[in-house]
Amino acid sequence: MATIQTLKARQILDSRGTPTVEVDCLLSDGSFGRAAVPSGASTGKHEAVELRDGDSKRFGGKGVLKAVSHVHTLIAKSVEGKGFDQRSLDAALIALDGTPNKSKLGANATLGVSLAFARASAVQSKQPLYRYFNGLLSRKREMCMPIPMVLVLEGGKHADDSSDFQEFMVMPVGAPSFTEGLRWSDEIYQAIAKVLKKEGFNINVGFEGAYGPNLGSNTKVMEVILAGIEAAGYRPGKDVGIALDAAASEFFADGKYRLEREKRTLTSAELTDFYAAWVEKYSLVSLEDGLAEDDWEGWKILQGRLGKKVQIVGDDLFVTNVERLKKGIAEQAANSILIKLNQIGTVTETVDAVEMAHAAGFTAVVSHRSGETEDSSIADLVVGLGTGQIKTGATSRTDRVCKYNQLLRIEEELGAKAKYVSPF
Ligand code: PGA
Ligand code: ZN
Repeated sequence: MATIQTLKARQILDSRGTPTVEVDCLLSDGSFGRAAVPSGASTGKHEAVELRDGDSKRFGGKGVLKAVSHVHTLIAKSVEGKGFDQRSLDAALIALDGTPNKSKLGANATLGVSLAFARASAVQSKQPLYRYFNGLLSRKREMCMPIPMVLVLEGGKHADDSSDFQEFMVMPVGAPSFTEGLRWSDEIYQAIAKVLKKEGFNINVGFEGAYGPNLGSNTKVMEVILAGIEAAGYRPGKDVGIALDAAASEFFADGKYRLEREKRTLTSAELTDFYAAWVEKYSLVSLEDGLAEDDWEGWKILQGRLGKKVQIVGDDLFVTNVERLKKGIAEQAANSILIKLNQIGTVTETVDAVEMAHAAGFTAVVSHRSGETEDSSIADLVVGLGTGQIKTGATSRTDRVCKYNQLLRIEEELGAKAKYVSPF
């Protein structure tokens, strides 16, 4: 049991220049942990509440001083001077909040405290953070290095005037190690810049460090990626698979999906046909949020049609929430969950979501948010929980690269014990 001496929170800036919460946790033996909270743009409507001040005179209403003050008052008062492990601290935060979606304290306040405590506790127990996370699992699971989903092109809400879909990623499934997989992915990222420039497109980057030109059609994006993979000397479908986060809630209205670039409005079944064609043609191995967050019937069609061949990942659909995941498992609406700590607001609830997914035979992909900080906890989280996959943006911009760099360090530290195995 670790006794919390003091909690100190502050408002800092994230990678978009938007305020976010950072928390320092000091334990009574002097062990110290600091954590910063990320923030989404294409936020799912069922996510836990990110508390913002709403004071239009400061940061356009996006300040987080209320959440900071909740750490210093309500939370500090109830936990300082007391002993906890991760689960009992998170249970105390959930009870203190008392709402189903952390709307009283703010998930940005609870996650800041939960994650800072995790870091301090890892220091106290003289373990690297990834090993501490591994110890939180209720069923033993071997740690492993993740296959990265490296972002190469972005659109949707993450880049102006680009493609309809949000994230186009490469997965070095055939690489022998994380370190090599990252090299392959970066070589592809650099090769794609050359392909784009040669064809007269700009290489300005979006929120997560990837290129976001207007290529005219969604299909053209896939063509450019294939060209980049080949130009870098890798074989699409063998060495490298393509992963897509459509973020379909963002182009869903009145029961239909509007693909502006294609000038088409599609039903769930028609959009599923569209994806099925991409699976055949472009080695699409993973499809996240192919449909909207409440289109459960559509998800069942999608999973039924493609789930045997393709990883069908629920992000806005599940929001790292065991209640929604339970429904998705029972209804066979997907075969994978995206894991974002701030969608649910504590470390323990995140671990529980991963364990529920694994018990049901689902895969789990640990993820960043489009607004990030220099906090690289998710690198340790993915190794500790042994989920085997991470998406954390392009191989550019420090808010993205800091996670990959931490994974390089972890792989070096684990040495021969570092397993890197394709989930497909
Ligand atoms: P967000 O995007 O952080 O803007 O929600 C990431 C994702 O949709 O996976
Ligand atoms: Zn997503």
